[in-house]
Amino acid sequence: MQIFEQIAPLRTALTSHRRAGETIGLVPTMGYLHAGHMALVKRAKAECDRVVVSIFVNPTQFGPNEDFAAYPRDRDRDLAMLSAEGVDGVFAPTVEAMYPRPGATTVSVEPLGDILIGKVRPGHFQGVATVVSKLFHIVQPDRAYFGEKDFQQLAVIRRMVADLDMPVTIVGVPTVREADGLAMSSRNVRLDPGSRAAASVLARALGAGERQVASGERDPDAVVAAMREIISGEPRAELRSLDLCDAETLDAVERIGERPVVLLVTAAFGGVLLIDARTVAPPTQPSATGAASAA
Ligand code: PAF
Repeated sequence: MQIFEQIAPLRTALTSHRRAGETIGLVPTMGYLHAGHMALVKRAKAECDRVVVSIFVNPTQFGPNEDFAAYPRDRDRDLAMLSAEGVDGVFAPTVEAMYPRPGATTVSVEPLGDILIGKVRPGHFQGVATVVSKLFHIVQPDRAYFGEKDFQQLAVIRRMVADLDMPVTIVGVPTVREADGLAMSSRNVRLDPGSRAAASVLARALGAGERQVASGERDPDAVVAAMREIISGEPRAELRSLDLCDAETLDAVERIGERPVVLLVTAAFGGVLLIDARTVAPPTQPSATGAASAA
C-alpha cells in the first residue's frame, strides 16, 4: 500500500494505472476508521481495479465552535486497517498540501446545502462540496463511495457531480450499525458511557417513524411528532433537527404519497453531534377502485 502526503506523486502513480486501463475507486474519509468506512472500502474493492482512500480532517467543513480540534485521529491504526483490507493507495495530505493558499474558490450547492443540517451547521456543506471536488480533481476516480448515514451529504455530492458534469459515478453504501442500532461514526468514540447508551434513542426514533410511514401514516407532522416524543424521553439528547423529506429531492413533504421519504435526525449527546437517517417507501395507496395499484 502506497501512502501519499502530496498531490503530485499521487497523480503520477494514478496516471500509470489509468494508462493501463484500470478503473480507480475513491473512498473519501476523515479517518478514525470503523466498520462503516470498511464497508465502503470493500464495495470499492469489489467494483474497481484500484482503490484509493483519502484521510483528511477537512477544516473548512467545521464551524468556529465545532469539534475540528477534538475530532478523533489515529493515523497508524487507520493505515493498518486499510493495508489489511488490501487498499492500493492512501492519500493523507497535510492541511498545507490541500490548502496551500487561502481559497478564493468554493463550491456551494444551493439550496440543498443550506437546508436541514445546513441550518444547524452553516457553511458545512460548502466545505464538504469544495473538498470533495478537490479530491475528485486530484484522484480523478471512476467511482466514489459515501455512506448513506450522511444522507444530505450524499445528496449534495450527487447534485454537485450532476451540475458540474464531473465524470465520476457516486455510490451510496448502506449505514453500518452497532448492536443497539447506533449508526457507526468516528465521533461515537467521543461519547461518555452515559451518552453512548443514550444515543441509541436516535435509531429507536427512526425505527418508530419508519413503522408509522410503512403502515400507512400520511401526515408527516404525525410521524415527526411521534419521533420527537421518543427523543424527548431521553434527557441526554439535545435535539437539533428532525425532518421528514422527499428522499430524492430533500424537499419538505406536505402529505406522504407514494414516493420514498427520508427521516433525518441531528442531536447532540454530551456535546457530541450525531446524525442519522432512514429512507422509507410508503405502502402503495389504494387506487380509486379500491384495488392496490400495480408497483
Ligand atoms: O463524510 C466525511 O467523512 C467527510 O464529510 C468527507 C466526505 C470525507 C469530506 O471531508
